[in-house]
Amino acid sequence: MKSREKKQVTRVNTLLHGGDYNPDQWLNRPDILADDLKLMKLAHTNTYSIGIFAWSALEPEEGVYTFDWLDTIFETIHQNGGTIILATPSGARPAWLSQKYPEVLRTNELRLKHLQGARHNHCFSSPVYREKTQHINRLLAERYGNHPALLMWHVSNEYSGECHCDLCQVAFKEWLKETYNNDLAALNEAWWGPFWSHTFNSWSQIQSPSPIGEDAVHGMNLDWRRFITDQTINFYQNELVPLRELTPTIPVTTNFMADTDDLIPYQGLDYGKFAKHVDVITWDGYPAWHNDRESTADLAMKVGFIDDLYRSLKQQPFLLLESTPSAVSWHEVNKAKRPQMHLLSSMQMIAHGSDSIMYFQWRKSRGSSEKFHGAVVDHDNSPENRVFKDVAEVGKILESLSAIAGTTRPADVAILYDWENNWALNDAQGYGAKTKNYTQTVQEHYRTFWEKDIPVDVIMKDQDFSSYKLVVIPMLYLLSLETLSRLKEFVAHGGTVVSTYLTGIVDEHDLAHLGGWPKDLQDIFGINVVETDTLYPSDYNKVRYGEKEYELKEYASIVEVKQAEIKGEYLEDFYAHTPAITSHSFEKGKSYFIGGRLERSFHSDFYGEIIKELRLTPVLSVRHEKGVSVQARQSETEDTIFVMNFSEETQVVYFDQPVWDRLNEVELVGEVMLEKYAVKVVTVPLEDNSQ
Ligand code: GAL
Repeated sequence: MKSREKKQVTRVNTLLHGGDYNPDQWLNRPDILADDLKLMKLAHTNTYSIGIFAWSALEPEEGVYTFDWLDTIFETIHQNGGTIILATPSGARPAWLSQKYPEVLRTNELRLKHLQGARHNHCFSSPVYREKTQHINRLLAERYGNHPALLMWHVSNEYSGECHCDLCQVAFKEWLKETYNNDLAALNEAWWGPFWSHTFNSWSQIQSPSPIGEDAVHGMNLDWRRFITDQTINFYQNELVPLRELTPTIPVTTNFMADTDDLIPYQGLDYGKFAKHVDVITWDGYPAWHNDRESTADLAMKVGFIDDLYRSLKQQPFLLLESTPSAVSWHEVNKAKRPQMHLLSSMQMIAHGSDSIMYFQWRKSRGSSEKFHGAVVDHDNSPENRVFKDVAEVGKILESLSAIAGTTRPADVAILYDWENNWALNDAQGYGAKTKNYTQTVQEHYRTFWEKDIPVDVIMKDQDFSSYKLVVIPMLYLLSLETLSRLKEFVAHGGTVVSTYLTGIVDEHDLAHLGGWPKDLQDIFGINVVETDTLYPSDYNKVRYGEKEYELKEYASIVEVKQAEIKGEYLEDFYAHTPAITSHSFEKGKSYFIGGRLERSFHSDFYGEIIKELRLTPVLSVRHEKGVSVQARQSETEDTIFVMNFSEETQVVYFDQPVWDRLNEVELVGEVMLEKYAVKVVTVPLEDNSQ
């Protein structure tokens, strides 16, 4: 969205605040349910995700339905002024279902069939599971589809994982036949069949990848992951049938995730593809704040990256559908959010385009695995504890900021991220087994813009490049000729592109490009990449760029210059004094190539120059040191700017123009103190901030 037009993602013109609410755990405690209603008012919450794991409370026996409790909840929430995101219950099965229809159970890659238990572990090909989930969804849509409290559908929960049962083997083969137009020779070609004599002469010989069978055919591994994404989407679409039929105006979503250890986007599914099938992107964010391995600012940068990615998937606001108001229960160490962190981390989500702050969970469960997971209401049932008060404070602030719902902000910079690329690169036997780090590398390129407060979209390879001034494409190892020609067109029409080592090595089948670096890349960059050197973790090289020398680790491309200008050179090893950084004017645009993995200060200096050249500016001029992040949302009349201190000390920031402090209702200009973890939300009327 390049304009300042609002794109409302829900029918309520407000920011959502609330979370997963599980009254089905407390059906024999009417006093608790009554307390919930009182506490909801005090917490300033307005929206609740209900029924996510409620299948056994809705259908305790096959064909026996008990909706009365949910009827009551719908009514009471509605009377209380709240809205409901109603879940379809397919995330967890009742025991009767698995007992009667064992085909719904998953089989793992070792071909071991699972038992009933836990959750998120169903066979997505099973006709029985598809029928059962669609049926209960139909009943829910029939019963609640016209209820005024219904805001959105929460389809299933955190789809993930894979199944290797016989039904899935059949589905995989069908998928392959369709993908390869029934042409087995084409599949053998794409999978490079003759290698180790793996040519198939019948579709029946193909089996899904397994450590006890075939796991080294890269084209097949890639296709299997694509199939898993498609099969999951297909299962989801089957769930959607009655919802679209009976409630065509109610938006649907399913909650996306992040891999938490290193806070990167979830890798089990290609969300770029999935995004096309949901109305609203929602995600569950659980950064491990205050951990012992990275600074708060480093982690905040990674959160910003995922937010910018999930917002850019549909170029509209997203919803934070789950987060914790305090600690989680499943990190190795479950540390409480320090004072101010809840507000700061919530404002960061809003700043990057979330139209909600939602929690897992409204009330702590009494038993089972999440009984110590953070919640708005603790076992003490009190509105007086620190966490509850933090939540209520966020609720009040969200109420005061409701006008920004539906807004985002334009960006001139796009960074390309690609799930398939990560899968293929991680599969590649070669380079450094532990040093590929594609996502982390993309985040490192993102970091510079985040630190300099330059708005960024994180886009997919099939998204339109033409509205950006700069497209950054780190390590795009898997590059199809189709993407390449779109890229060429972008540069030819005046765009600027930056790319790096390990770009353009294989095609969409994970087959190496033959004949050297692809011709279109050579044209765009004015170079040929002739070799890639991989260094041991203890090795390093150096690159001279401008007046400075920078340290290089892990990867270095050896480059032959055709027409490009040499901007930097390697200083060590057998390729000392050969080009490391180049730039090239191609038709109306420009390209830059970064040959190796360089330290952070290089990115800062290098992109600093491009930022100047392309006149890329932050939404508001706020001068500050590292650790402070400035992000904005823009409406047709004003800019709302979030100035966030992710450092561990008080910072001084300078506003170059007067702004209105929304949380304290005062004007600010010049030097302003920002305490550790403090946030200022300021507004500037459009006419005062047009550049
Ligand atoms: C999410 C999940 C929730 C809850 C939460 C705990 O991944 O969707 O149901 O388990 O984690 O952090």
